[in-house]
Amino acid sequence: MAKQSASFSCNACGAVHRKWAGQCDACGAWNSIHEDTPLSTGPASKSLGKAKGRTVALSSLTETDKPLTRSLSGIAEFDRVLGGGLVPASATLVGGDPGIGKSTLLLQAAAAFARRGQSALYISGEEAASQIRMRAQRLGLSDAAVQLGAETNLRDILTTLEAERPALAIIDSIQTMWADHVDSAPGSVSQVRAAAHELTAFAKKRGIAIILVGHVTKDGQIAGPRVVEHMVDTVLYFEGERGHQFRILRAVKNRFGPADEIGVFEMTGMGLSEVSNPSALFLGERDRPASGSVVFAGIEGTRPLLVEIQALVAPSPLATPRRTVVGWDSSRLAMILAVLEARAGITFTGNDVYLNIAGGMRISEPAADLAVAAALLSAREDIALPADAVLFGEISLSGALRPVAQPDARLKESAKLGFTRAWAPRLPGSRDTGGISVENLDDLPSFVESVF
Ligand code: TYD
Ligand code: MG
Repeated sequence: MAKQSASFSCNACGAVHRKWAGQCDACGAWNSIHEDTPLSTGPASKSLGKAKGRTVALSSLTETDKPLTRSLSGIAEFDRVLGGGLVPASATLVGGDPGIGKSTLLLQAAAAFARRGQSALYISGEEAASQIRMRAQRLGLSDAAVQLGAETNLRDILTTLEAERPALAIIDSIQTMWADHVDSAPGSVSQVRAAAHELTAFAKKRGIAIILVGHVTKDGQIAGPRVVEHMVDTVLYFEGERGHQFRILRAVKNRFGPADEIGVFEMTGMGLSEVSNPSALFLGERDRPASGSVVFAGIEGTRPLLVEIQALVAPSPLATPRRTVVGWDSSRLAMILAVLEARAGITFTGNDVYLNIAGGMRISEPAADLAVAAALLSAREDIALPADAVLFGEISLSGALRPVAQPDARLKESAKLGFTRAWAPRLPGSRDTGGISVENLDDLPSFVESVF
């Protein structure tokens, strides 16, 4: 047998390295590389070889092959993010910071499933069954027919799953699970990988929809969910700012539906409640116009979402003025500032610039460029934009405004919420703008000229 050489892997991202280093060059985390014990052959690999060499022709699929039947939880925001419900024989990872509400969300989802007559099993490696029951009581779910298990040994869990054969199984969390054929501590990369691999394989074999909970860890002491991201079909992240009650469930990978879809929840004393009209929520208190604050008509996944963008520009005592961004990309802000300077002659040198997306929302769309530029200009000039106006559009380095996806959906949502005008890139053809008067723009300088 060939000599097994030592291998090292990063606890944060799971990247495998040939030797130890202080920093992982794959994800940049420090002090996260540890020596691995090699994955020995586990129970799952014993069944290998049964289906050796069998393939089927793509065209041979007949009508008798069942189409994907999804099961709905009845929590609309949750089902939406999954792409229209849970797919049987699939594995889903729900990641998020500790304390963000993953266990709460999934216990509610399990109860909702059970209420629709489907069998749901919730296995916790973190809480005793009595603690989960207490939580359920608080959430008003104590009558739901959910089977509970407090278990960390993978072999015991697989035995339970084999006996119960639930339609939905939730494993909370993957970092507490422990496979006895792997010789390292729970939470290490090898353990997390082995547990995720076996649970995923089992789910596929037995037609169970399995949901793995993964804590995002910053210190790298336990392996993060990124280690299992590539093994599962769907990856959801549950995010939110501390101090805000809003939580966003975001799909970042989905083999059975659109990625980038979001579901919005509010954490209340009675658990998470769905927010079906998130635009109204993210707009905050906008009863009077204020300088530096504008409304961006965005799209998150398949859904339009209006958010308030706030900027503050203040004289800076520093040689290198501050650029602080919350909820948006800081290099994108640098780019907008540079374009404003080079193409419209407006400089921010000598000024501190703060940019904030209201409500703890995060935006990644370049379509927010125009709204960001408008917020910066409005703050700098201390001129408030009309309170009934929205903006969207991507700004190119030349200062030209580029069209963005789904302008109609953005305008429709804005009209629904009582906005009456919009600044947007020139839209091709004449279209139904839902009663909103649209100011078509070709470039940034013409916008600056007409408004400021
Ligand atoms: P939890 O679901 O335990 O988080 P995670 O599993 O992601 O670690 O949520 C814990 C937080 O949620 C805790 O700080 C209290 C809060 N919470 C509420 O505000 N209301 C509730 O009804 C519940 C159950 C929790
Ligand atoms: Mg938890």
